[in-house]
Amino acid sequence: MNLKENLISAKNRGYRQSWLTAYDYPSARLLDESGIDLILVGDSLGMVVLGQKDTIDVTLDEIIHHLKAVRRGVTRAPVAADLPFGTYATPDQALASSICLIDAGADAVKLEGALPEQASLLTSRGIAVIGHLGMLPQQVREEGGYHRKGKTETEAESLIRSALDLQSAGCCALVLELVEVALSKEISMKLDIPTIGIGSGNSCDGQILVTSDLIGLQPWFRPSFVKPKADLATPFRNAVKEFISDVQTTPSP
Ligand code: KIV
Repeated sequence: MNLKENLISAKNRGYRQSWLTAYDYPSARLLDESGIDLILVGDSLGMVVLGQKDTIDVTLDEIIHHLKAVRRGVTRAPVAADLPFGTYATPDQALASSICLIDAGADAVKLEGALPEQASLLTSRGIAVIGHLGMLPQQVREEGGYHRKGKTETEAESLIRSALDLQSAGCCALVLELVEVALSKEISMKLDIPTIGIGSGNSCDGQILVTSDLIGLQPWFRPSFVKPKADLATPFRNAVKEFISDVQTTPSP
């Protein structure tokens, strides 16, 4: 079974997908060994690893660099990679960029927005495509912030239409980011492919998070919808402090 068939069959069985992001070998390996269903080399790389203010300046080469590290750490879970901003403006450009990601080890690519033509060309060439609707981080500068989507009837109708179009274009799954809870439930019921929510309530067919949000590694930034399962920043800082203290208090021989 290919990735799309697996995802649809899982949805039909009522299996709920758990997806997380990774950008390096150790975290990818730990996620894989922990049984995660899919690892995304997201363009959140820009914010989480590179210290940028949003995802917009992330390049294809940067995603490829981190994707290769992730690939080396994963033996089981599918690995998906984000197409960064400006690398899929036309279907042909999307194809060229996606081929680079597949060659670097991606099992699927993810693109943001209602772009069924891009998705269609990619899936017709055998590339697994994950759609991404709702709040689109690559448009955050244009929109002036991270705003919840689907509040008005027009916006809701347009999201439903786009979701169905992406499914018809052959997408294997659809990420719904910051979408009104009732609407993400409606979209999930209308689609055969799984919806993967982030800040969109519990009625999606699965959930995705940025791993450092989940494990509390970046206490200076936490989206309001995330309930961290750990606070790794504290043992991290304590270990560093203990090391400094050991070095300073250990007498030289
Ligand atoms: O870049 C990213 O991490 C994403 C998310 C959906 C988590 O696109």
